[in-house]
Amino acid sequence: MHKILTIAGSPSQNSRSSSVLELSRLILEKQGLDVSCLSVKDIPPEDLVYANFESASLKKAQNMIEQAQAIIVGTPVYKASYTGVLKALLDLMPQYAFSGKTVLPIATGGTITHLLSIDYAMKPLFSVLGATHILRGIFILDSQMQRGEGGQLTLDDDIEIRLKDSLTELASFITC
Ligand SMILES: Cc1cc2nc3c(=O)[nH]c(=O)nc-3n(C[C@H](O)[C@H](O)[C@H](O)COP(=O)(O)O)c2cc1C
Repeated sequence: MHKILTIAGSPSQNSRSSSVLELSRLILEKQGLDVSCLSVKDIPPEDLVYANFESASLKKAQNMIEQAQAIIVGTPVYKASYTGVLKALLDLMPQYAFSGKTVLPIATGGTITHLLSIDYAMKPLFSVLGATHILRGIFILDSQMQRGEGGQLTLDDDIEIRLKDSLTELASFITC
């Protein structure tokens, strides 16, 4: 059983929010936790746009969500909210897909103006999906993330500490 699932909501190549999820995976795996990864880019666009409920990719996504005890959802802020393609994916999941699960929201954005998008956009969505616990979440500004020469992402010290603290909190909800 996959204990923790990351869901990446960015359609972009070299996505910052997806790199934050990758960093989270590495941190959690160092603690011996089992992490699997799902991205909106794993689903054929036609299946999302035409709501193809027979899609093998969507069925696989549903299965990955079912198997997870905890979920980290990472998305860029688009127009003051999560991405449309993330919503398109979650729209096609069962009504209470997040039931019994703990969810950590992570949003990356260009401006502090949309800091509250975690509270007014992400949390209500996860709530309607039946999430049992929704953690406080982390908003990361583009200016707080840097890419090294090899393309690896590093975070400002204070954000990295907040990420690690949030992951520790998330891990505390995982049962053997
Ligand atoms: C189409 C689009 C819309 C965006 N809208 C917002 C916005 O409303 N507020 C904001 O803070 N940043 C906005 N941004 C900036 C992104 O949220 C930010 O650069 C983010 O870190 C990109 O994440 P990604 O690399 O994972 O896609 C927007 C970017 C794009 C491409």
